[in-house]
Amino acid sequence: MQLSTKHLLGIKDLQLSDIELILSTATQFKEVLQRPIKKVPSLRDTTIVNLFYENSTRTRISFELAEKRLSADTLNFSASGSSVSKGETLLDTVNNILSMKVDMVVMRHSATGAPHFLAKHIPVAIVNAGDGINEHPTQALLDAFSIKEKLGKLEGKKVVLVGDIMHSRVALSNIYLLKKAGAEVMVAGPPTLIPKYISKAFDIRVEYNLEKALQWCDVANILRIQLERQNQVLFSSLREYSLSYGVNKKLLDSLNKEIVILHPGPINRGVEIDSDAADSKQSIILQQVENGVAVRMAVLYLLSNKQSFA
Ligand code: CP
Repeated sequence: MQLSTKHLLGIKDLQLSDIELILSTATQFKEVLQRPIKKVPSLRDTTIVNLFYENSTRTRISFELAEKRLSADTLNFSASGSSVSKGETLLDTVNNILSMKVDMVVMRHSATGAPHFLAKHIPVAIVNAGDGINEHPTQALLDAFSIKEKLGKLEGKKVVLVGDIMHSRVALSNIYLLKKAGAEVMVAGPPTLIPKYISKAFDIRVEYNLEKALQWCDVANILRIQLERQNQVLFSSLREYSLSYGVNKKLLDSLNKEIVILHPGPINRGVEIDSDAADSKQSIILQQVENGVAVRMAVLYLLSNKQSFA
């Protein structure tokens, strides 16, 4: 089985069969990761560069670990400390790295569309590790994997994305994926952080009242306020945001059911979520991080077009 696409630029471009193939392959890799020797030779002699033009903890370490578990050779590039500060362009930087016989590129960039631009100019597979406010496809895939692992399936499940929908690439990738997989999707948050077009464009629900949103859902994916991407004042203060849209254990306990809590990280404790909710047994935040390695192994393996990994 093969993916219908050469690159993973976004969930928007994937077919449901691609998503199912990635998730089922990730299940097999998760089994590998439970073994005493957590390594397979699948990508031996494959060299992958992780190009990070924007900060990251989880995604960067997760990709690097996934590459190592697949026996690939890995290179890590950070824009800070590189010749980017001397004016070198993205394309020149990448072409110089590729001339050293690199086979695949993982890239995070603050500019929306940067990996799509690169895909038009270089011959190797690109994995988008987050581009501006556009997409973060492997985050949505690991979120889907984690929900499926917890609830058995995605189809028919009610998932709410809470918070800064306007600036969140995690939200957009999740909306694409969940809709393709047959889940019911809602976005919730302050009106200023939810694009006006979103309900019609994606056929999803919008709710401005957090309690009603949580009452409706099976799963709540709580998003960070992306202050670094906001160039205007969209809410009065973080304290007031937290009072209206912060998730805490008292609120979770007031619901007449036990919902599952996700967060892509990094968490701003006390803003979008309190510690008593983030660390509660309803939270699968660290399982998401664990599953990210298996999901990224699956993506890299499938894009490399290798035949067997055992
Ligand atoms: N979820 C996520 O993308 O986290 P990082 O920014 O730490 O990679």
